[in-house]
Amino acid sequence: MAEKTHEAVFLIFRGTPENGEYKEYRIQVVDGMVVLDAMMEIQAKFVSDLGIRCNCGAGKCGSCSAEINGVPRLMCKTRLSDLPEGQPVKVGPLKSFPGIKDLVTDVSWNYEVNKTMTPFTPHQDTEWRMQQFEVDRIQEHRKCIECFLCQDTCHVIREHDKKKEYCGPRFLVRLASLAMHPLDAADRMAFIKEKAGIGLCNVTHCCSDVCPEKIRITDNAIIPLKERIADRYYDPVLTLIRRIFGKRKSNI
Ligand code: SF4
Ligand code: F3S
Ligand code: FES
Repeated sequence: MAEKTHEAVFLIFRGTPENGEYKEYRIQVVDGMVVLDAMMEIQAKFVSDLGIRCNCGAGKCGSCSAEINGVPRLMCKTRLSDLPEGQPVKVGPLKSFPGIKDLVTDVSWNYEVNKTMTPFTPHQDTEWRMQQFEVDRIQEHRKCIECFLCQDTCHVIREHDKKKEYCGPRFLVRLASLAMHPLDAADRMAFIKEKAGIGLCNVTHCCSDVCPEKIRITDNAIIPLKERIADRYYDPVLTLIRRIFGKRKSNI
């Protein structure tokens, strides 16, 4: 049976931030196509130099992040059938990072932020054993594919450009996974409070809404970190317990 096709209109950002504009392309699309399929087809048919970043095509490499009808999403996970029917599909680059060309942005700031964080630092004097609940809560954080959609959508970065003062939700997820690891010995609390700028997050949940891995960024990473900061800096009893028993026993 022949596939059912219909014409769809795409408005795609072409050029650089200084000299770019949205251009219109029309192609026949079939059921099941995602936005990335359409970009590849337009590239193959009309504009061989269309700048796109992609790799896996399966929602796992985090490289095809773009703004689709103004919403940060993965192109390979956005079905055309889930977008408003009969309207042009607008595809642009992530707004929070410098544009390079067309849909490709320079996200290297994120890798620089990552380097400033003390990596996993195992205890030298403890048995390597974890409770199942400890494994489960870290596992959620480790599903991150570094698509940076959460970074793109967070207003602290997007509207206020606080890249110098704030690490953004993706890296609060990383810091939470380290803080909740019972075998980790490093103390990053001062870093989280001062350098990572957790106080700038005002818990809007927008980051959680766009995460393709459905990580509950705000509820399961940022709020627990904020609570730990409050315990550390404003609760002298808990600070004393932590000093006496260490991170594993006190779990705070
Ligand atoms: Fe992407 Fe979610 Fe990781 Fe943010 S936390 S970078 S949205 S996978
Ligand atoms: Fe930004 Fe998420 Fe906080 S969108 S303000 S990091 S809850
Ligand atoms: Fe890998 Fe989209 S191409 S996540």
